[in-house]
Amino acid sequence: MTVSNEDELEGLKVIGRIVANTLHAMARAMEPGMTTGELDGLGAELLAREGALSAPQSAYSFPGATCISVNEEIAHGIPGDRVLALGDLVNIDVSASKNGFFADTGASFGLGTLNPAQETLRRDGRRAMNIGIAQVGAGRPLAGIGNAIGTFADKRGYTLIRNLASHGTGRALHEYPEEIPTWPARHERRRITDGMVMTVEPFLSRGGVFASDGDDGWTLYAEPHAPTVQFEHTVVATRRGPVIVTRPDMAAH
Ligand code: CO
Ligand code: CO
Repeated sequence: MTVSNEDELEGLKVIGRIVANTLHAMARAMEPGMTTGELDGLGAELLAREGALSAPQSAYSFPGATCISVNEEIAHGIPGDRVLALGDLVNIDVSASKNGFFADTGASFGLGTLNPAQETLRRDGRRAMNIGIAQVGAGRPLAGIGNAIGTFADKRGYTLIRNLASHGTGRALHEYPEEIPTWPARHERRRITDGMVMTVEPFLSRGGVFASDGDDGWTLYAEPHAPTVQFEHTVVATRRGPVIVTRPDMAAH
């Protein structure tokens, strides 16, 4: 969507805060022995309490309120019987709607202490997202996001998953301008317009270059298999730069 007035921005901020608070509450609640299904149950409860509707569930009939992807899974993991253990790298992605406004946020967390290489990957994954967000502004090239993230990833010897794009959002989970590359893409010639709402969600990896489907029809894996993280915010482009709408009230992670 294109935000054209304060009411629309406020509507986005309301759902943005809800998904962000849900994401961080879920991260804080993770403990060894818990199943991903139980963790998703908490997310479902928090969304319901705020009058928000899970977007993957309502838009795509995803079998869960949130996506929870553990270790070798990198996205769209189905919450279920999988038991969380210390040292797991867990990606939680929460998207939902309220009053017709959609927001989408995600982050990768360690359960307990990650090994140093994974912890560095996690820190750099958040940096990659922030570097991409810094390129968002009215009139700027859409390709600037992927170019900046690509330069950062190259310099540090990381790879980017090149078939999981960022996307327009706001009035639907996925909408115009559809797929936004978070990697260098020469064919991308479009410009960011004033008020454009989009996600910035690079998948930073230690060797993975694309995501492949699993047998369940949802879960995605890095090819070749490699540790991968994703961090995601929903952002509004303005003349003064990016406005992040998916900030939690209190960031504990
Ligand atoms: Co997401
Ligand atoms: Co998204």
